[in-house]
Amino acid sequence: MVTELTDRVTYCGRIITFEGDASGSLRVREARYMTVEGGRIVEISNDRPSGDLVDYSDHVILPGFIDTHVHLPQLHERARISDSLLEWLERYIFPAEMRFSDPDYAEKVSREFFAELVSKGTTTAVVFSSSHEEATDVALRVAAETGLRAVIGQVLMDRNGPEELLTTPEEAGPSIRRLAERWHGYGGRLYYAVTPRFAVSCSMELMKTAGALAREMGLYVQTHLSEQVEEVETVRRLFPDVPTYTEVYDRAGLLGPRTLVAHAIHLSDRERRLLKRRGSSIAHCPSSNFFLHSGVMNLRRHLSFGLNVALGSDVAAGPFTSMLDVLRDAYYANFMRPEEAFYMLTMGGARALGMDDIIGSLERGKQADFVVVKPTTVSDSDDTTEVLSSLMILGGDVKATYVAGRRLWEAA
Ligand code: GUN
Ligand code: ZN
Repeated sequence: MVTELTDRVTYCGRIITFEGDASGSLRVREARYMTVEGGRIVEISNDRPSGDLVDYSDHVILPGFIDTHVHLPQLHERARISDSLLEWLERYIFPAEMRFSDPDYAEKVSREFFAELVSKGTTTAVVFSSSHEEATDVALRVAAETGLRAVIGQVLMDRNGPEELLTTPEEAGPSIRRLAERWHGYGGRLYYAVTPRFAVSCSMELMKTAGALAREMGLYVQTHLSEQVEEVETVRRLFPDVPTYTEVYDRAGLLGPRTLVAHAIHLSDRERRLLKRRGSSIAHCPSSNFFLHSGVMNLRRHLSFGLNVALGSDVAAGPFTSMLDVLRDAYYANFMRPEEAFYMLTMGGARALGMDDIIGSLERGKQADFVVVKPTTVSDSDDTTEVLSSLMILGGDVKATYVAGRRLWEAA
């Protein structure tokens, strides 16, 4: 149920927000009261303003979680173990995605998927749909009805997959155009991403078609990059004239500031420099990387090149829909202060989408996208770092999720 809150309302709780730059000057701000009007934050303070108050006193209020890499049609394929990415795709994922040729099934799973995400505090999601135009249209419609922010794209493949999931560059172009014309910018909350699955399943021609349309229509781009060594070797065989995996995407015109590449584990410094030059962001998916034994992404090295890193659940290779679970795995993969981890989860995601002026932190003038959480252990400590590390490692119960001031979900 979507609750419309257009009136002026003040929320009371332990409000914690993160600003600045993950590689350097990260600032944590705290406050007690946040006033929202017309979907935006109009005031943050420690003094109680007059007017209606929603009391979340025993809770932490954080900027909404941003999941920058997740696969809708894979919701029910989690925890299917396999000893390689390519085998896992063929055995479990492609058959699961084929079922999305049925729009009724696509609608059912889309409803479950977005309800699940908002119940876990995700307010913005960057989503791979299946290869089907109709199922993607359904996913966008259900996202609109759910009320969260989302960037969604129909998966593109024209080789190395089952016939039923393959398209052609001639078919893909008009399909992208129809979906993007209908949905890109819809309600100020939905956007379209051209979504070549990865270089293993796409010809250069298909990727060029996607890249050209992304530029022409100002769309996002999402894909997978350098997740497993076997995949990197396959790409080298498929594109023998291109020196690196990242340059395959660059030659296709897919790398720009609105591009999100997922995983980016087995990268050379040359590739890091190229991603930085293009302004593309990395969707770091630590839970998925652990689950499929893909490797550990070198976060410090990425950051030392000035790259923007955001977080993704990568369901279903990632077993968790909750970004707090993903945050814990990010910490296990690379030591991080909890402030830095939460920054990556919130502002990192907003920056990846070029939306850091409207979401990503709780500041006056920004959209009121926030999550109300009760940490699993209430430590006696009042210390911010200790509260955040408890949330990061032990998680918490999401009490309510708001997007643009509308309550999308509340615990019973
Ligand atoms: N590489 C290409 N497709 C996929 C996918 O669906 N999941 C993951 N984790 N990696 C991929
Ligand atoms: Zn993925």
